[in-house]
Amino acid sequence: MPNKNSELVREGYNKIAEKYNKQRKIYQSKPLLLKFLKYIPKNAKVLDLGCGTGISVAKFLRKKSCKITGIDFSEGMLKLARKNVPKAKFIKMDITKMRFTENSFGAAVSFYAIIHIPRKFHKNIYKNLHRILKKDGILLANASGTCTWEETAKDYLGAPMFWSFFSPEKTLKIIKDACFVILWSKVLKIGNEKQFWVLAKNK
Ligand SMILES: C[S@@+](CC[C@H](N)C(=O)[O-])C[C@H]1O[C@@H](n2cnc3c(N)ncnc32)[C@H](O)[C@@H]1O
Repeated sequence: MPNKNSELVREGYNKIAEKYNKQRKIYQSKPLLLKFLKYIPKNAKVLDLGCGTGISVAKFLRKKSCKITGIDFSEGMLKLARKNVPKAKFIKMDITKMRFTENSFGAAVSFYAIIHIPRKFHKNIYKNLHRILKKDGILLANASGTCTWEETAKDYLGAPMFWSFFSPEKTLKIIKDACFVILWSKVLKIGNEKQFWVLAKNK
């Protein structure tokens, strides 16, 4: 049975896909992606969790020669991603049910997606990522906001929306417990939003 908050997120992004796509560039991702690229080999196989419309993350990494697989559960967002980044692979998949084999990817990114997933699932997402990523694989994600938080908003770009995450401290513990070494972590203000970013290496 689908989680009702996740269904609200999926339906929300289906509705606002075009609008989200148009405004995505206000959240500058390039400095973070350049930092990520320093840690991964050229042509690395990168999994983009909650890839959205492929702007800016998948598009930028593809241009830098990464082999991108983007997953998302919103058909509306995936349709735009396939148009925006024709040379990447996009699959409809729920992040809480990732079904890739062990050691499938050299690296993973997740921008503004895990924060939409009910936090009771977060531990298993990182455990699954530990399994999916190769040893020493790099993960870059905004893993939470500035404190433990859960909210359902009536109107985010024209649709109801849901967010859920733990504090940065608890989030770091979850990621470490899933067998990652933390390379860097920081709360950053990008656009109007303060998010907690983590760069980690798989053990
Ligand atoms: C704010 S958008 C971010 C999209 C993209 N990463 C970016 O940087 O613009 C969040 C995305 O996460 C996706 N998402 C949220 N929960 C998900 C889940 N459980 N499984 C798959 N995708 C999910 C949404 O459909 C949406 O496309």
